[in-house]
Amino acid sequence: MVIISRTRTERLPLDSIRWRIVLAFLLVIGFSFAVMYLLLTGYVSNYLYQQRIRQDSLSAERLATTVAPLFQSAASDSLNDTLISAGGELGGRFLVIDPDGKVQFDSFSRALGTRLQLPEVLDVLTGGEAGSYGIHLSGSGGVSGEEPVAVYASRLVGPRGSLGVLLYVAQVGEMVESLNAVIFRLTMVFALVALVAVIAALVFSGVLTRPVNTLTQATRRMGKGDLTVRVPEKGSGELKNLARSYNWMAEQLETLDQSRSQFVSNASHELRTPLASMKVLLENVLYQPDMPAEIRTEFLTDVDGEIDRLANIVSDLLLLSRMDNQKLELHPVTMSLTATCEETIRLLTPVAEKKHQTVTGRIQQGVTITGDPDRLKQVVYNLTENAIKYTPEGGVITVTLARRGRTAVVTVRDNGIGIPKADLPRIFDRFYRVDKARSRESGGTGLGLSIVRQMVQLSGGQVTVESEEGQGSVFTVTLPVDGKEKRVS
Ligand SMILES: Nc1ncnc2c1ncn2[C@@H]1O[C@H](COP(=O)(O)OP(=O)(O)OP(=O)(O)O)[C@@H](O)[C@H]1O
Ligand SMILES: [Mg+2]
Repeated sequence: MVIISRTRTERLPLDSIRWRIVLAFLLVIGFSFAVMYLLLTGYVSNYLYQQRIRQDSLSAERLATTVAPLFQSAASDSLNDTLISAGGELGGRFLVIDPDGKVQFDSFSRALGTRLQLPEVLDVLTGGEAGSYGIHLSGSGGVSGEEPVAVYASRLVGPRGSLGVLLYVAQVGEMVESLNAVIFRLTMVFALVALVAVIAALVFSGVLTRPVNTLTQATRRMGKGDLTVRVPEKGSGELKNLARSYNWMAEQLETLDQSRSQFVSNASHELRTPLASMKVLLENVLYQPDMPAEIRTEFLTDVDGEIDRLANIVSDLLLLSRMDNQKLELHPVTMSLTATCEETIRLLTPVAEKKHQTVTGRIQQGVTITGDPDRLKQVVYNLTENAIKYTPEGGVITVTLARRGRTAVVTVRDNGIGIPKADLPRIFDRFYRVDKARSRESGGTGLGLSIVRQMVQLSGGQVTVESEEGQGSVFTVTLPVDGKEKRVS
């Protein structure tokens, strides 16, 4: 028996089941991460932005109240000083924009006189809002360089309404950096988890698909004719059952294969024997032209006998092969088993008489059953012929027929040589003979009983044997009277 183990098998490329499992793992992990990523970055950025907004808007609003009267009274110097010192304190830049959107004061003095198109400014100037806040990742609207900035526009209110806007521009590089750090860490964790997930999926799917791959390889090898392949029955559940069924099937096929080749070699051997003796006999006749006529006749009679034997073997073999291929169809009719038994006795009595044997019939009259007359005659004939063949001169053979309920029972009893206990289980096997030399001498091939068994089984009955070496044998055939046909596997 060959056990396919992992080390011996060539590795199959990753098959589709494995890929699907890996993909499913990745999808699940990826999806949960995407959700987590969005939620987390959302929370973190929200938190950071909110804090910033609160601080900046407070500073801007506070300053706006200080700046508004200065702007209104056109106290440019003190306004400038206020803006510059507040900018220095808070680490930002302050601009004052008039209602037309023009920069009137700038603590960095860079954008004086320009118009700022920032949405936050417009929100206050034209949208009527008291304050507006926004983040610009790369500076825009002329208020910063390439650095990310937060801008807060706060309305400047005078006694007669809006005076313009105080714009607070703060560097938020640090905040964006810490946000990026969070995102980077999350991405790293995701990559790590994804890697672990892929490895886990590969291992898991490998464990799952290995038995299937092993089975695939085993069936391939079996397909190429190696019936000795078996797979380990490991794991649990369905896969173990599958492996077990496969091994069982392989076992059956191997047995079948062995019995087929055994059958062929036995059959050829059996055919060769009569052919060889015929050749010897014919060569004798051929190379001795002056052979006396009576000896030649004797030789040719022997050849004739061998031809009969060959013909018998061939017809037995054909019969068995038709039964094997389930091509032998029975033709059940209502028939008299009584007549079958009586006819067999009549046919074989002359053979028995040659050995000074007595064939007695204890035949119940009127036993009719549904069955194939030719096949059942063959059954009774083979058993009675054996009884005569394996009983010494002067022996007694008794054929009995009786009906018992829904069955008919035929027994063939003899007081002959009997069958040793060790051989009993095998005598129905094809070509099996207890004493090969003696049986062949009497023309036996060892097919008679196997034909009997198959015919009886095909007719829905059973055949059994009891025997005592040196005492005799009893073969019992039980047949259903309503003759249900049964297919023999
Ligand atoms: N009544 C019997 N008494 C003793 N031995 C028997 C008896 N019937 C069968 N056997 C043994 O069983 C063997 C198988 O019988 P089977 O009828 O199958 O073969 P055969 O008689 O040798 O040849 P064949 O019937 O094919 O011409 C015989 O060779 C014989 O050894
Ligand atoms: Mg026989």
